[in-house]
Amino acid sequence: MELNIESQKQEFLTICRTSIHREGLEDLLEWLGKADFFTAPASAKYHGSYAGGLCQHAIDVYRYAKRLLFLTDPAASEESVAISALFHDLCKVNLYRVDKRNQKINGEWREVPCYTVDEKFHFGGHGSKSVFLVQQFMKLTTEEAAAINCHMGFSDGAANTVRDVSNAYHQFPLAWIIHVADEAAVYLENR
Ligand SMILES: [Fe+2]
Ligand SMILES: [Fe+2]
Repeated sequence: MELNIESQKQEFLTICRTSIHREGLEDLLEWLGKADFFTAPASAKYHGSYAGGLCQHAIDVYRYAKRLLFLTDPAASEESVAISALFHDLCKVNLYRVDKRNQKINGEWREVPCYTVDEKFHFGGHGSKSVFLVQQFMKLTTEEAAAINCHMGFSDGAANTVRDVSNAYHQFPLAWIIHVADEAAVYLENR
């Protein structure tokens, strides 16, 4: 899939600047621009495995989260929803590199471009790494930190136990909303 990287970047920045008014936002956005956030894929082989896939996925999760809020708290803080959704996967910034692999095309083996995981910062967790990275620039509320940390549900291989994640969802409904929105973006967008 080919995306218009620049218009998608502007859409992302507009949502950020409209919904988020917290100190540190511009520093965070500057870092995202210098890093590969706007051109990175969302995964190496699965959802959004093309240039711009990561930013597209962040916007998708934001839109799903907004739609799902009727289940919990339609009046939830717009700023918290935007921060949790748009930055939940910052752990994937600078994670992938363009590589090559052999693929049989019309009976002939050809070299084609692909993405490979190339982690340079082993933090030991997926959601927790995103929390850490956001907080290098901007303070998170406890609810936002829980939402980002637990967005993978029970499949995050980090130190979270099933009960820990369940308790976080009970305490912070936004955390569960972001998790479901993340799954919806992955499984319903058919990209
Ligand atoms: Fe994730
Ligand atoms: Fe995600």
